[in-house]
Amino acid sequence: MRLLVTGGAGFIGSNFIRYFLRRYPETELINVDLLTYAGNVANMKGFSVYPGYRFVHADINDRRKLEPFFASGLEAVVNFAAESHVDRSIDAPVIFARTNIDGTVNLLSLAQRYGVKRFIQISTDEVYGTLGAEGVFTETTPLAPNNPYAASKAGADLMGLAFYTTYGLPVIITRCSNNYGPYQFPEKLIPLVIINALREEPIPVYGDGQQVRDWIHVEDHCRALERVLLDGRPGQVYNIGARTERTNLEVVRRILQLVGKPERLIRFVGDRPGHDRRYAMAVDKIRGELGWEAQIDFRQGLAQTVAWYLEHRNWWRTILSGEYQDYYQRNYGYRLEGQ
Ligand code: NAD
Ligand code: DAU
Repeated sequence: MRLLVTGGAGFIGSNFIRYFLRRYPETELINVDLLTYAGNVANMKGFSVYPGYRFVHADINDRRKLEPFFASGLEAVVNFAAESHVDRSIDAPVIFARTNIDGTVNLLSLAQRYGVKRFIQISTDEVYGTLGAEGVFTETTPLAPNNPYAASKAGADLMGLAFYTTYGLPVIITRCSNNYGPYQFPEKLIPLVIINALREEPIPVYGDGQQVRDWIHVEDHCRALERVLLDGRPGQVYNIGARTERTNLEVVRRILQLVGKPERLIRFVGDRPGHDRRYAMAVDKIRGELGWEAQIDFRQGLAQTVAWYLEHRNWWRTILSGEYQDYYQRNYGYRLEGQ
């Protein structure tokens, strides 16, 4: 298979490439990543031993640079590349529209022009908005995004489906719940809590901490994407989730127990504007059609994730170090301190 993956230096994209190349080492895989603050060359360690692997440093908006790869024939595109952090989208929404919507449309139009046989758009449960105490999101739940990140992902989903309906491009949308696991950038809740706890620094909990997320281990997500890539139906949306609903406070307390640190590190801080209260995913469709379901138990997966961050202190220390901060100050005009 000749596959173009975008965002493969980030959290889920790098886990997916590692998973996929181990399973199909003969794959010709082109990894396109801009290496933004969230892209990290250390996440791609070991990939180059696979003879068919190639890294391309490029923006998914860069048509000129990407066109030759499409022109030389691709079976599939898997688009992970995105600005992915909700808090950043609230502070600086423009780049979210540019990468998540414009970038996706650029890839879709190249895929259409050069006859790509399958286009997997990696989306999120956030496009459905928020739930109250009851109910779950299904694939037919109306889109009702509440923050700029979620709105940009919903825009990309709609463009993908429009390319399917209008031009017959075989687009498939996957919508996954909150991932956790190795290589997650320490701005997201779980790695941030692990690292702050290890350093005995305050742990910010937004609002009352009773918001609910449906946590899935990244490896379960990768396994689901493999099934969708191989056997998913074009024009369809597939929800992916693990039915592991936990309040943020439960997650924080569990991590503190795992690392043996006191609850007095918890700080209740101001809430995130437009904060979604609860996500929960119905996964009957992917289970019924593709025989997939999550396998990794949350307690075990979380303990393994904590162990990974303990064993890979250099990975996150480098991210938090002055050198990395200076790099971002130079390139992006801000520092990541406190993340
Ligand atoms: P991430 O922020 O860790 O990684 C994003 C990657 O995209 C980085 O390597 C970055 O360098 C790259 N990138 C950003 N802008 C780019 C551009 N213009 N051109 C090329 N590359 C660019 O994100 P993640 O958590 O791994 O999420 C990956 C995808 O999965 C995203 O599309 C996100 O919306 C989706 N998703 C994430 C979750 C989650 O819990 N993290 C859940 C559901 C869906
Ligand atoms: O649901 C899928 C989405 O999950 C993905 O589409 C996004 O890319 C991914 O970033 C994630 O979004 P969330 O906003 O749910 O993840 P985050 O880790 O930022 O926050 C998880 C919850 O924890 C959320 O309710 C906000 C809360 N939170 C987060 C941080 C960073 C805190 O209470 N304190 C924090 O410091």
